[in-house]
Amino acid sequence: MTDEFEFESLLSEEARHRAAPGLMVSASGAPSDIVADLLVGQPAEESLPLQAMVEAAKNTLPDRPELLLYGRRQGSLDLVEIVREKLRVFEGLEVDPEQIIITNGSGQGLDLTLRTFANRDQAVALDEASFGALFVRRISDYGCHIPWDTDGPLPNELEKAISEQHPALFYTIPTFQNPMGQTTTIQRRHELLEVCRKHRIPILEDDAYYELHYDGDRPPSMYELDGGSGMVVRAGTFSKILGAGIRLGWILTSSSLADRILPLKTDGGTSPFSSALATHFMQNHMEQHIAELQSIYRTRRDVMLEALDAHVGQNATWQKPNGGFFVWITLRRPGLVSTVLERCRAQGVLVRSGSVFRVDGANLGSIRLAFSHATHDQIRAGVEILGQAIKASTQ
Ligand SMILES: Cc1ncc(COP(=O)(O)O)c(C=O)c1O
Repeated sequence: MTDEFEFESLLSEEARHRAAPGLMVSASGAPSDIVADLLVGQPAEESLPLQAMVEAAKNTLPDRPELLLYGRRQGSLDLVEIVREKLRVFEGLEVDPEQIIITNGSGQGLDLTLRTFANRDQAVALDEASFGALFVRRISDYGCHIPWDTDGPLPNELEKAISEQHPALFYTIPTFQNPMGQTTTIQRRHELLEVCRKHRIPILEDDAYYELHYDGDRPPSMYELDGGSGMVVRAGTFSKILGAGIRLGWILTSSSLADRILPLKTDGGTSPFSSALATHFMQNHMEQHIAELQSIYRTRRDVMLEALDAHVGQNATWQKPNGGFFVWITLRRPGLVSTVLERCRAQGVLVRSGSVFRVDGANLGSIRLAFSHATHDQIRAGVEILGQAIKASTQ
């Protein structure tokens, strides 16, 4: 057998600094006999429009060789039109094509925006617990998490973080937050915008779940409330509507800021092939498909909430999310999280530790449960095992 090449001493500063050994194998580390996968924010399998995608490929591929060539850096103009149409239909928003960049999932948009504003030695402000911690960790060495109350991030805490840590930007997920499930109120959005305007802090509004709204209020986006000045970059995705495998998202901001972000995008053009499939699908099915998704996920959420009432009860607290994929539970005894996770895993229930959503890895005593991917029976069985694990850990 060939000796393994010793590369560790040759790594760039960046690669050495961001080392996270084991990342490549973590997906296969799951037990084989899974009772309930409440781990990842993946769409429900029956929601994936497989046949419609076959139709889209049949309709678009035969006479369009350019779909298998390099694409435009900004992305497919047809898909830009779809994003504009979606904003018009669902939000009554009018934007210019130059304000939109199509990205390889919204993850690329988040990464590009962070790289546009943050240097490695600068802090990034983000929500109390945030999916964004995964991205911030790659770009910057410092995250300042802004505590939330039931209305959203606390403006005075943001001001404090700004004066003490001078963050390069504020990354927030105001609608159906991942992992906390909560939504920032309209009043709070205005207050946060005011703080950021006063201190000249750009906002990265990660809006991955906007379409998946089940009930209650869904306030206008921070982008809309700001009026498109360029202070807010809003990132959206097709991952939750069409499935993450389509790898398409977008960012929306002022056209002049989009001009500064675009040069950092060096990917040969976001896949023209995927873009054509998504365009065809959305032209024909957008509103009906999104209504179906809302119905599927509303029911799954309710199944999870009922199971939590029945099996977890007083041992944890949680709030009902009005949209998105997650319920965030906080244990009465925060120190029990790792024991509870171990017990769940041993019994085939996969859930996410809340500490993953902190740049500093702090334990908030919370666990994220995804209700999007598991079936109703799996959700019930998973939450029952979770409830038993909490009780057993408490004794
Ligand atoms: C809040 C949030 N933002 C962004 C993403 C990234 O999604 P994608 O890169 O697939 O568009 C996710 C995926 O789970 C998410 O939950």
